[in-house]
Amino acid sequence: MNGKKQDRELIRAAMEARKRAYAPYSDYLVGAALLTAGGRIYQGCNIENASFGATNCAERTAFFKAVSEGERAFQAIAIVGGSSRPVDTFTDMAYPCGICRQVMREFCQPQFRILVGRNTEDYEEYTLKELLPKSFSMER
Ligand code: THU
Repeated sequence: MNGKKQDRELIRAAMEARKRAYAPYSDYLVGAALLTAGGRIYQGCNIENASFGATNCAERTAFFKAVSEGERAFQAIAIVGGSSRPVDTFTDMAYPCGICRQVMREFCQPQFRILVGRNTEDYEEYTLKELLPKSFSMER
């Protein structure tokens, strides 16, 4: 599988993951789907906490699941997010936060692809280098 078809499948997986978001405090539901170099997909959702500070973003949930299962090489991530108000289906372009970009940099090359979408037909594509220029990493 390649190109657009694979992108759409990844976004679909992110939309599915978003349904499992635990976000009772912000009502902002985010889903992510991380594609490994070997073609496996790891899904993640945001998981909030009453302390607020212990909240984990969808992207990092996906990365930590994958890395803890032994994955170290990644091709792309799809991210879908938005408020659950007034209806459960509303999604906006949910750009990854700075902490998640830095976590991506730990395991990914600058050409790692980041798809941010409202749905499978309406999405934007960036490289990690575009979203995190002049990054801090162990490759200096
Ligand atoms: N959130 C993510 O899951 N990913 C991001 O990149 C940005 C923010 C979550 C965290 C929190 O649960 C909610 O969105 C509102 O900030």
